[in-house]
Amino acid sequence: MAAVTSPHAGGSPRTSGLLYEELAQDLSALIAKGTLKAGDRMPSVRQLSQQRDVSVSTVLQAYLLLESRGMVETRPQSGHYVRGSRAPAPLEPRTPRSSSQATRVSVSDLIARVYRAARDPSIVPLGAAQISPALLPTENINRRLAAVARTAGGVGVAYDPPPGCTALRRQIARRAAEWGVASSPDEWVTTVGAMEGLHLCLRAVANAGDTIAVESPSYYGILQLVESLGMRALEIPANPGTGIDLTLLELALRQHKVKACVVVTNFSNPLGALMPDDAKRELYRILVQRDVPLIEDDIYGDLCFGEVRPRTVKAFDRAGIVMLVSSFSKTIAPGYRVGFVAPGRYRERVERLKFGHTIATPTLPQLAIADLLDNGGYDRHLRRLRRALASQVARVSEAIATHFPQGTRVSRPEGAFFLWLEMPPGKSALELHARALDQGISIAPGPIFSAKARFSNCLRISCGFPWSDVIERSITTLGRIATEM
Ligand SMILES: Cc1ncc(COP(=O)(O)O)c(C=O)c1O
Repeated sequence: MAAVTSPHAGGSPRTSGLLYEELAQDLSALIAKGTLKAGDRMPSVRQLSQQRDVSVSTVLQAYLLLESRGMVETRPQSGHYVRGSRAPAPLEPRTPRSSSQATRVSVSDLIARVYRAARDPSIVPLGAAQISPALLPTENINRRLAAVARTAGGVGVAYDPPPGCTALRRQIARRAAEWGVASSPDEWVTTVGAMEGLHLCLRAVANAGDTIAVESPSYYGILQLVESLGMRALEIPANPGTGIDLTLLELALRQHKVKACVVVTNFSNPLGALMPDDAKRELYRILVQRDVPLIEDDIYGDLCFGEVRPRTVKAFDRAGIVMLVSSFSKTIAPGYRVGFVAPGRYRERVERLKFGHTIATPTLPQLAIADLLDNGGYDRHLRRLRRALASQVARVSEAIATHFPQGTRVSRPEGAFFLWLEMPPGKSALELHARALDQGISIAPGPIFSAKARFSNCLRISCGFPWSDVIERSITTLGRIATEM
């Protein structure tokens, strides 16, 4: 068995956010050098923990990371093994070089066409940003909702006007400390999903005709919102590794009167980009200097594959310009439609807009989620969910490397459940989308993620459903069609 030596032997076991990455790097080097070959059993968790003088959870985290990179597989009751011959890892997709001009958005028709298909349960759902109910705490939350409905009496059927359910806001404020945000329950407003949060924040700081800086590619829901509010989107290139290009953002802010900036800072949709802390600090510096509010969408932050839950830009906000938006749609129950916002200095405006928009967030789902967060094993559930998503992303990524045409680039996310593909020039994602639907498979074509319908040869594949023969066959089919096109 190969020994994995540590530069820091001795002392008691440690658990630091970086140790597992270091360990994963050392283990990958052993695989790359051929010291550990396909099919070899990796050192046991206990052995490595003693050898490296790190905790068992650090070793498990390192293995999880290697699994998410497709280098190692876990065999139940047996241990970790080097994965068999794999197609070489594809390169990462490229970033557009320049920002666009501010544009009126008109993506809704295209999105409606794409999503009509996604509603059909017979279609293999590689296009939707949805996690299988089997991976969510479905029974747990439904049981709690029933219990709350039995006991809540009149409270359960009454309006719960802004800022919303106190018990839930207390739980959110407690969890927000993990994202670097020290807040009181009073700083939060509950919303109907993250989508309402984004809507209220945009309206709180901008009007029709105003320019909003967004990442490119960007979550199509944000583009639709900008379109419906009559605002203009200024697309700033983002890359799959570290997200929005801050140099180009700063340049754009000098050239345009931007009223707000919307960024998904942790595991963005569709790129899966994670802004490092330094970049988050810099983004804040750039915006606060010009007094431009940031609408920070952190809906995927809890879905990190690593041990350390990434922080938010809100963690660095002293001036109150960051409006942090999120929801439980990707971790508990999208159908419950419970989201939340910390609007910073715009809180009163957001509360007023919320009242005028939907009056209140439904009461019972808020109470049920508050109960689950308080004593429902949410952290245990998150650990299982992260592990499942990391493994699904690794399997789909490997299948793409095997079946898609040579030259296809694929992102390497370290959280959430999206893969962003850039096919060779000339291949059309819209054609692939149409032909895949004929075969009963949905994908999300690149142009829906841009106000200017850029990314014609790109697509997003979701890995929110457990790996299965059906998914494997679907990726094989997509790869065949993409090769033929
Ligand atoms: C980045 C991002 N923000 C917001 C949303 C909408 O979230 P909700 O369902 O909570 O409204 C989504 C859904 O896919 C998303 O990907």
